[in-house]
Formats: sequence, C-alpha cells, structure tokens
Amino acid sequence: VTLGIDIGTSSCKAVAVAADGAVVATATADYPLYTPHHGHSEQAPEDWWAATDLCVRQITRALPARGAEVTAIGLSGQMHGLVALDSDNNVIRRSILWNDQRCDAECAAITEAVGGAERVIEATGNRLITGFTAGKVRWLRDHEPENFARMARILNPKDYLRLRMSGVFATDVSDASGTGFYDVSARCWSEPMLRAVGISTQMLPRVAESTDPTGPLLPQVAEGWNLSPDVQVYGGGGDAVIQTLSMGITRPGDIGVTLGTAGIVAAASDFCPENKEGKVQVSCYNRPGYWHVMGVSLTAAGALQWLADTLSELGPEAGVSFSKLIDLARNTPPGADGLLFVPYLAGERSPHYAPAASGGWVGLTRMHRLGHLVRSVIEGAVLNMREILETLQDLGIACERIVASGGATREPFWLQTMADVFGREVVTLTGCTEGGAYGAAITAGVGVGNWESFDQAFTHLQVDSAYHPNPRNHEMYLRVFEAHRRLFADLTEVYK
Ligand code: XUL
Repeated sequence: VTLGIDIGTSSCKAVAVAADGAVVATATADYPLYTPHHGHSEQAPEDWWAATDLCVRQITRALPARGAEVTAIGLSGQMHGLVALDSDNNVIRRSILWNDQRCDAECAAITEAVGGAERVIEATGNRLITGFTAGKVRWLRDHEPENFARMARILNPKDYLRLRMSGVFATDVSDASGTGFYDVSARCWSEPMLRAVGISTQMLPRVAESTDPTGPLLPQVAEGWNLSPDVQVYGGGGDAVIQTLSMGITRPGDIGVTLGTAGIVAAASDFCPENKEGKVQVSCYNRPGYWHVMGVSLTAAGALQWLADTLSELGPEAGVSFSKLIDLARNTPPGADGLLFVPYLAGERSPHYAPAASGGWVGLTRMHRLGHLVRSVIEGAVLNMREILETLQDLGIACERIVASGGATREPFWLQTMADVFGREVVTLTGCTEGGAYGAAITAGVGVGNWESFDQAFTHLQVDSAYHPNPRNHEMYLRVFEAHRRLFADLTEVYK
C-alpha cells in the first residue's frame, strides 16, 4: 500500500492505494483560506501540516494492518505557493497562494529585468504568470523587506509537508516548473531568473524526479503515524500536473480534459515543446524524461455555476437546479441559435493570457430564452477548451484520445458537447477520481517498485463511458468555433 497526500486550496486529501491500483482508504480535512485584502489569498502552512497529520492517522487506523502495510508516501499539492522559511526552518509569514493576484507589477518588473517575455520563456519555458512563485518573492523583497531579509529558504506548499515529515529540503520537477525559477527544458534552476529576483540557488530546494525517494520519515513522525521509519517520501508532483497522471495520461496521443471550475486541457509529451508565445504552461512531467503541456482556462464549469448562483437569487421558490438548467440547454438547438458566450469570468490564462479579460454574451436577440443562455454558456466553455486543444496541436502535441474527468463530467450533456465540439471520441475512466492524491500514491508506488512502470500501474483503468461526436453537430460547431475564435481579438479594445 502506498499513501498519496494532496494539499489542496480548501482541504487536505489522503488516499491509500493497493498494489492492484484500488483505493483502500481515504481521508480529508479542511483548513481556512485567508483573504486579508482584495486579491490576496493566503494559508497557514501549520494548518496544512495539522490537516495532513489528521488524515494520515485516520488512514492508518482504517487499514487492516494499521499502517504496517504502508511502503511509501507520495506528495501532491497546490502549485506556485510561496512558503518562506528562516534559517531555523520557521515559517516567516502565511503562504501566498497560486490564486493571489497581488504580484502583477512584480512579474512585469522581473520580466523587464530579464529582457522581456521572450527571454523569460527562453529561460524557463513559460511566461511569468502572476500566480507563479517568483513574483511573490519579489513582492516580499519590495513590500516586506524585513521578512525578505529573514528568508533563508523557499518551498512549495507540498514540500513544506516533506520538510515536516522527513526533515528534507526538496521538491519535484513538476512543482519546480511552476515557480518561475526553473528551466523546464534543461530540468534545472534558471540563473537569469534567480538574478532578476535577487536570490541564490542555496535558498531553493533540491529537485527530484517525481518517482525518486527524497528521504525516510523522521522517527518521531513515523511513530506517531504508526508507520515504519523506513518508509520513504517520494518526489510526487504539483496538483495540476499529477492529476493528469492520475487519469492514466502517460504517453503521447492521450489528452486529459479536467472539467471543474477551471478547465484543464493537458498532455504528456516526450519532447519539451517550444512555448514561444507562452500560450500554455509547460512543466516537467511526473514520468521521468517527459513533459506536461497544459492550458488552463480559468472559467469552465465555473461559468454554469455562476449562472446557477445568479438565478438562485430569485429565491428557493424559483427552484433553480443544475438538472433543470441542463434540461433547458438540451431542449435548445446546438449553437444556441447564434448566441455566443465568452467565458472569461475570472480573466484568462489560456488560450490567451489575459488577466484583465472578462466575459459576455454576443449575438443576443429577443428570440433567445433561458435555454439559449444556458446552452451558450456550456458551449462557450467547451469552445474555449477546443481552442486550447488546437494550441497544443500547434506545438506538435498529438491528439488521439480524449479522457475527461472532473466534477462536471458527471453530467453527460457536458461530455456530449465536448465530443461534438472537439469532433473526437471523449471517454471517462473508472478508478481515477481521486486526483492529485491518487497520482501521488502512484508515483510513490512506481518509485518503490509496486509497479515496473506507469503503464503497468494504470492497467486497471477501464473505460467507463464513451461519447461519440454527432457529425451534423460537429460540422455546425466548426462554424461556431471560427466565430468564437475571432471574438478575443475583437474584444481586446474592450479589455484595455
Ligand atoms: C496550476 C494552478 C492550480 C493550482 C491550485 O497552474 O494554478 O491548479 O495548482 O490547485
């Protein structure tokens, strides 16, 4: 049995995975998110550790041999967060998270210091996104100089857990890729980026491949958890990357689409693509020697959630529910009679990096009804994901099969719309629902030798449902897609 621990933005999730790939125990524990100012988003690393401790104790109690069967631990977590430590490994301030928006100016300053966005992409493989760690370090330097002066070490969220459980200062290649300090193509820290922020590699952790052991548990931690002190902690991965792995996406040709509040379109690649315009995020993948190429659309199923929430303001007597809204959409013709929805409700990262973008309906007429609004919202989100898919293909990424997961894929209407808009079969798989925690348990399992390879680890994943494109709808969506694609350029003036 291997344990996977995922430190998310709202909770910690831990799973125990047996050698046949089955999840044999799970536990979760929540912690607060602090928003001290508009656009700020912080969490206390101590809360993550307390939640992890709780989850692991709960899991080992639930296992038949009370933890004696656990052979390895893998870690996953929210990416890009800054954990700042002093020279005694004390946490200096609350962690600034991936979705914190305060560092726009700092990212622009770093980009300028390096010589422009193209230079940053050359140095790291990615443009410097506001959420990445580098901007936060510079923010600390400019706004909290005392904290900056005390800072001796920098860690990603999940790697703070590693430090607490094993005393080791390390991260993995995929999480390092989201710091803005890492050269994804060369798999090493990037000197020009470090110089631009004013830090040295001594402050950064050692970087391991996801399947590499980074050190055994500290004896007192092992004892408290009823685990053997020989249990090694493995590299693991950043959540957005390792959750693609948990869908069994390990070789070129498979595309993973995660449909949650945000939409993620991601692939495994055996070469590091040239992300010239910085339209997608390229990371080192959890499979050694591979890269993970991903476009994150910040609002996907979140757009339908927004519509449902807004309509719910009418009160409970209006009886707004997802199933009612989906029924309305289903009874509206594909293409929503010419109504288009632009889904950038929270700005956008991909296919266009545009933090200031916003959403809207285009083509609205008096004939449009609520069903049109709902259908266009779903179609707008999916058309946007198709644009990301095409961006991946432009970078040389093969697309043979689309695997979908995420909360919204429980609704077949989303899946059928995806098949029709993408013009490809879309499948869901059994046994890959636990996301980052599951992927982390798998990397540890491959590392410790439960499986010879990732392919072997995923033999148990079976197709649960398959959706085939309706040729007539697909043809119509090709025209709608061209109209959708033109919208962003037309709206740039509005977004200024
Ligand atoms: C990935 C990203 C999020 C966070 C939070 O780039 O920003 O997925 O990792 O989960």
